[in-house]
Amino acid sequence: MNPPSAESAPAPETAPLRVAIVGTGNIARFHAQALLAEPERAVLVAAVDVDPDALDAFRVRHSIPRGYAGLESMLTAERPDLVHVCTPPGLHRAQVEACLGAGASVLVEKPPALSLAEAEKMAAAEGGDRGPWMATVFQHRFGSGALRVRALMDSGALGRPLVATCHTTWFRPQDYFDLPWRGRWKTEGGGPTLGHGIHQTDLLLALLGEWTEVSAVVRRQARDIETEDVSVARVDFANGAVASVVTSLLSPQEESRIRIDFERATVELTHLYGYGDDDWRLTPAPGFEDEVTAAWEAGEHGVSSGHHAQVVQVLDAVRAGTPPPVTSQDALSSLRLVAAVYASSFEGRPVAPADLGPGSPFHDRMNGGRSL
Ligand SMILES: NC(=O)c1ccc[n+]([C@@H]2O[C@H](COP(=O)([O-])OP(=O)(O)OC[C@H]3O[C@@H](n4cnc5c(N)ncnc54)[C@H](O)[C@@H]3O)[C@@H](O)[C@H]2O)c1
Repeated sequence: MNPPSAESAPAPETAPLRVAIVGTGNIARFHAQALLAEPERAVLVAAVDVDPDALDAFRVRHSIPRGYAGLESMLTAERPDLVHVCTPPGLHRAQVEACLGAGASVLVEKPPALSLAEAEKMAAAEGGDRGPWMATVFQHRFGSGALRVRALMDSGALGRPLVATCHTTWFRPQDYFDLPWRGRWKTEGGGPTLGHGIHQTDLLLALLGEWTEVSAVVRRQARDIETEDVSVARVDFANGAVASVVTSLLSPQEESRIRIDFERATVELTHLYGYGDDDWRLTPAPGFEDEVTAAWEAGEHGVSSGHHAQVVQVLDAVRAGTPPPVTSQDALSSLRLVAAVYASSFEGRPVAPADLGPGSPFHDRMNGGRSL
């Protein structure tokens, strides 16, 4: 995985991109705000939603000139350069493929697909590095804190990563699942391991690289839903590190947390839905105080994680004709770890990436067709 740089390249000297948003619910406003903050890079020309009231309110709030009830009619009329797909996960594959087929690149919300099979088909519909391509929203890779850790790792300043914890312990009451697509294997693809913890596990993978084996349990402890509401996993990495990954929607004291103990320092990130530089903490090992602290302070600063940081890089990549920040292969890598958590739990054994190829039931559906 290539970590992005916090300093995006200067905007190429071309006209702003024509951008549309599909799905105007909860998360779409972060996309609209990010686009409207970049008028030299993008013009938000249209929004699409099957709910006319949601569409109208969204257009008024963000001054979007045109609205459409269907994606296809928008693609035909607007010929956008880029489409932000902010609909429920079960719609992503068809909508992403429609956009790519119309020559538009896509920034799709996480999770990009309900299964590895779907995500592979979406990747096959891409036009190559110059586009049209699909980027996935994994906004936590783009804060300067994450970039600094990666840079220190690459320079050798932190030594080898040894052990990590990666926790997404959030609270969602039962009525959170009233939206018809939530909590069901068919429409959400999985529970919080896929829908919520994936932000932290994606960041863990962006930092620690390829995983080699997972042992996990998923459980439904308290909510009246089809999927799990907690999962607990042990993940081994190719670089020798081992991590404990916990995801829960039952945790009244909510936090998102990654802690990695390297040979020369502990690096910790504690936040909830997004972080700034102050949410990171470095504790050097004895004997490395001056060296590690100096490297940490000299690294990149000033970029919070969030949609804006990633959207700027997506816009610049479309304009420059370069590969997207968070490629389909990056997204597949995170989805594969999620699939491994389910496969390990349902099959009661450790799972390696090679166990999840075509032919595995967990390749086609996160739950492998099983029930909890
Ligand atoms: N990156 C993040 O931090 C983050 C946070 C929350 C949600 N999400 C993701 O964003 C996506 C959307 O989640 P949400 O909470 O905004 O959902 P939501 O239900 O609030 O919004 C979805 C919108 O899509 C519309 N829609 C449904 N079918 C449609 C269709 N066929 N064509 C066009 N519009 C259609 C709905 O009417 C609704 O307005 C999900 O994939 C979710 O996992 C990401």
